[in-house]
Amino acid sequence: MLGDKKIIFSGVQPSGNLTIGNYLGAIKNFSAFSEEYKCFYCVVDMHAITVRQVAADLRRRTYETLALYIACGLDPEKNTLFVQSHVPAHAELGWVLDCHTMFGELSRMTQFKDKSAKHADNINAGLFTYPALMAADILLYQTDLVPVGIDQKQHLELSRDIAQRFNGIYGDTFTVPEPYIAKSGMKIMSLAEPLSKMSKSDTNQNAVVYILDGKDDIIRKFKRAVTDSGSEIRMSDDKPGINNLMTIYSCFTGKSFDDIEREFEGKGYGDFKLAVGEVCADALTPVREKFNALMNDKAYLEEIMKKGADEAAYCARKTMSKVKRKLGFVAL
Ligand code: TRP
Repeated sequence: MLGDKKIIFSGVQPSGNLTIGNYLGAIKNFSAFSEEYKCFYCVVDMHAITVRQVAADLRRRTYETLALYIACGLDPEKNTLFVQSHVPAHAELGWVLDCHTMFGELSRMTQFKDKSAKHADNINAGLFTYPALMAADILLYQTDLVPVGIDQKQHLELSRDIAQRFNGIYGDTFTVPEPYIAKSGMKIMSLAEPLSKMSKSDTNQNAVVYILDGKDDIIRKFKRAVTDSGSEIRMSDDKPGINNLMTIYSCFTGKSFDDIEREFEGKGYGDFKLAVGEVCADALTPVREKFNALMNDKAYLEEIMKKGADEAAYCARKTMSKVKRKLGFVAL
């Protein structure tokens, strides 16, 4: 708790090319949290270097990620937006938690197994201890709730185990965080293969709509979206393509599935796909414009980073001094 508010923390990889899946399933909903919770959103550049990065690209994507979150509606006055490497306490607590995390636990992480298979020439120690650094991110802020995708659930369970272990040895130190996993109804699927999730790294560029795509690209991608046999616009188990388009249309317009079915009664797939493309493009145009304006104002973004780092460091310091005292580090 901070004051009378519970705490939310989430980490985001520095990547500029987020999809409408990220937008509708996560970011768009983040701004609503700030009324009820104290929210920290952290661009995790230190996690990013567990795989090899080109320095100039990492730097640019760090600005882009921050700009994109602000453009999507996260108000830097109401949320603490910051960059992980600007708050050294993450690395500091990361080491402490490394010493309280078991080799066996880390070996069982499926993301480690996947990433070490994918980057077989660079299976470094950081890739292995990644979840302990993630636990440090979360526990530093006495976080109550962590909004993450389902793929991060295992890491979050490990964070809870680490917190409980530490509390068990040293007495109450960390809040044990709860995951907040967005409802699966919000899951946005690939436009080309509607049975698999829309993924920003899909090699088929027609399958993915990015938040920063231009209007023409968006319309074209939706026009090409795979649909199903039949011709009716309605939710049905055997219509994964139409279900996905209806979900997207509903998320952008706020209309219920019943309303959508009524709206498109007697119309064909072509009309519907165009309509989905249009609401999506219209919703994203102001986001893209805001993003471009922010990217042209690095000084402003740096001001936000600085303010965010100061706020985060203030909270992190409190936890760190408690941790050091419990461990037996000498305070000067
Ligand atoms: N591991 C997360 C991901 O890949 C990013 C992350 C780092 C994170 N630290 C975090 C998410 C803390 C939530 C809380 O998406």
